[in-house]
Amino acid sequence: MSIEEKEFKPTIVAFCCNWCSYAGADLSGTNRLQYPANVKIIRIPCSCRLNPMFILRAFQRGADGVILCGCHPGDCHYTTGNYYARRRMTILFSMLDYLGIEKGRTRVEWVSAAEGQKFAETMNSFVETITKLGKNHRLEDLRCNKQ
Ligand code: FES
Repeated sequence: MSIEEKEFKPTIVAFCCNWCSYAGADLSGTNRLQYPANVKIIRIPCSCRLNPMFILRAFQRGADGVILCGCHPGDCHYTTGNYYARRRMTILFSMLDYLGIEKGRTRVEWVSAAEGQKFAETMNSFVETITKLGKNHRLEDLRCNKQ
């Protein structure tokens, strides 16, 4: 790992559905499992509530990686919400690929309320991936940079 990688602390936005993944994050906290503090969790009612524009906007505002966590397929509180989310994200990922955005800056994971350990492991591995990829410059909107 280079010195630059060691110093770089990526900004991660994690959209978590209220019924499973957010509870999973809660459980990981209750169990005192460690994951980096630079993961900013945004609670959404269901993974299908995530408009793909939210992801693009997060990148514009300086996020280096964005992850969507939802209930496992078949377990969605709203029956089929995560199936819609999965389809939407597939289309968004292919669009990001077309734009030349590195694979791995966005990710979808299914985390249940009982999977605190999985939540912490997912966040740790995602932060590691983004740290290796480095700062997001391609989608960053310089007008949002207040320096
Ligand atoms: Fe969790 Fe729909 S309620 S994905």
